[in-house]
Amino acid sequence: MQHILEAIQAGESAALGALPVPEHYRGVTVRADEASMFDGLESKDKDPRRSLHVDEVPTPELGPGEALVAVMASAINYNTVWTSIFEPVSTFKFLERYGKVSPLAKRHDQPYHVVGSDLAGVVLRTGPGVHNWKPGDEVVAHCLSVELEGPDGHGDTMLDSQQRIWGFETNFGGLAELALVKSNQLMPKPAHLTWEEAASPGLVNSTAYRQLVSGNGAGMKQGDVVLIWGASGGLGSYATQFALNGGAIPVCVVSSPQKAEIARKMGAELVIDRNAEGYGFWKDEHTQDPREWQRLGAKIRELTGGDDPDIVFEHPGRETFGASVYVARRGGTIVTCASTSGYTHQYDNRYLWMNLKRIIGSHFANYRESWEANRLIDKGFIHPTLSRTYALADTGQAALDVHRNAHQGKVGVLCLAPSEGLGVRDPEKRAKHLAAINRFRGV
Ligand SMILES: NC(=O)c1ccc[n+]([C@@H]2O[C@H](COP(=O)([O-])OP(=O)(O)OC[C@H]3O[C@@H](n4cnc5c(N)ncnc54)[C@H](OP(=O)(O)O)[C@@H]3O)[C@@H](O)[C@H]2O)c1
Repeated sequence: MQHILEAIQAGESAALGALPVPEHYRGVTVRADEASMFDGLESKDKDPRRSLHVDEVPTPELGPGEALVAVMASAINYNTVWTSIFEPVSTFKFLERYGKVSPLAKRHDQPYHVVGSDLAGVVLRTGPGVHNWKPGDEVVAHCLSVELEGPDGHGDTMLDSQQRIWGFETNFGGLAELALVKSNQLMPKPAHLTWEEAASPGLVNSTAYRQLVSGNGAGMKQGDVVLIWGASGGLGSYATQFALNGGAIPVCVVSSPQKAEIARKMGAELVIDRNAEGYGFWKDEHTQDPREWQRLGAKIRELTGGDDPDIVFEHPGRETFGASVYVARRGGTIVTCASTSGYTHQYDNRYLWMNLKRIIGSHFANYRESWEANRLIDKGFIHPTLSRTYALADTGQAALDVHRNAHQGKVGVLCLAPSEGLGVRDPEKRAKHLAAINRFRGV
């Protein structure tokens, strides 16, 4: 692996195609024989440091339409938390199911799962039929893996019946020294960013773009009031930026004065600290408290000068969904991509139908949407919100930070990159955006 790293650091990436590909590499794995290790524990007590290992694994054979990438840096997504605590199901079930699709897909069905759905790195090899990318290209990868053999995905690849999230529902993910991707996951690495900065927006940036901006999601427009749950977290820190960049008015919900400060640093003026307000949307495990929904609605009106949210950017799920449906304006949209606090939601349907609101389900993003989201990063309109970067060996701790909600923005992981701060190819462009990069990077 050292020869690959040396070539990249010496700026001789173009020579990578001639260098031998290592037969093994280090990757962050969960192991099939440990899938029941946390049985009987509550979610909060399941510790990713126990289940995530750094293992030496064989380099997979490269198939048609694929690329092997030397990974310089990656990032933690919540899906790695789910994988590491084997909730809601063990991801080995996904690999097993994928393995049945084709002999090529069978490679993914292993007793280990190399996780991770983000990367910034350099293409090492491309498989047959790949013409748009070549060894030496510096790239980021979005995490949509599609087969596209049937008709369903040809209008929107997220609708393909064989659509999967790479590094979560497929193997050979980005928290590793090498990664296997389909070539139609690749996008140019923004040249003004370091490896770890470039690796961090990927999954959440694309997801927030589709969920909030794209016509497949809420189709946000200028002047829209957007209620953003978890506004300083992974998804929320990009949703907040999209709202501001697109002329909308974010109302940011966070859970501490520090996180409120982060939202303000990003440029948001309307911020709600849900802990300070002490919302109790659930009286007990089975009963919600509509008066608390009303109290949230009143707070939003107080901040906006009387407006209700045109869009509610939802992902906490069970805990907040009843309130989200209630506070959305007449004709407004609740757009959801997750259920962190529980996936059986309850809401009062009278507020939905009588007020002509709609709920939209959204999941990751297609290549076009991911490309647009990456382009906004490349243009310097949207910035990485990287708060901390760990070494590959400490990925378990990084995932624990996210599991415990002890992080802000994104948490990065160095893979082949020996230290932070490397990989900037366009210092002039960086200098132009430096003030903003630094403002967001502290997030
Ligand atoms: N479908 C998709 O394509 C997709 C893509 C990305 C992520 N996701 C999912 O979306 C969820 C969030 O991902 P993320 O990367 O943004 O995670 P994250 O970085 O942990 O941020 C989530 C934020 O939500 C807030 N939050 C958590 N529990 C809450 C609750 N009970 N009530 C109100 N707010 C709560 C927290 O902010 P405060 O404590 O400051 O309020 C937290 O920082 C995860 O479940 C993830 O799996 C789905």
